[in-house]
Amino acid sequence: MSLYGVTKGTDLEKDIEHIMHLEENGVSTYYAIARIAAEKGLNDLADELRKIAADEAEHAGLYAMMNGVVSDDIFSLLSRMAEGETAGEKAIEGFAQRVSEAGLEDAAQAIRAAGVDEGRHGTRLKELIEKYS
Ligand SMILES: [Fe+2]
Ligand SMILES: [Fe+2]
Repeated sequence: MSLYGVTKGTDLEKDIEHIMHLEENGVSTYYAIARIAAEKGLNDLADELRKIAADEAEHAGLYAMMNGVVSDDIFSLLSRMAEGETAGEKAIEGFAQRVSEAGLEDAAQAIRAAGVDEGRHGTRLKELIEKYS
């Protein structure tokens, strides 16, 4: 049985939403701690924390799909996501410039790298839509 939307409109929806947000917060928190650990040279710890973060991301996705937060017309959704990712690359590049002008060049470089990832996500999503839709 599909779990899609099973809690949407039920007494459980608010609780599921609350747990989803806790999981989302866990994702950014664990990845942030992993980055700090890596900066301290604790690379094995960083790797383990990234695995936990990926679990939390899966959990957040579980709750999101149970509440029907996203459309099940996945290829239309992915098409819009692809456009957002592609546009995001330019937007992030512009933001990185502001960070650079604020004198935070290392941070700007890291943000630029994230921006390049967004562009790559857009390209990959378009390829996947082509392949599977
Ligand atoms: Fe979790
Ligand atoms: Fe992205």
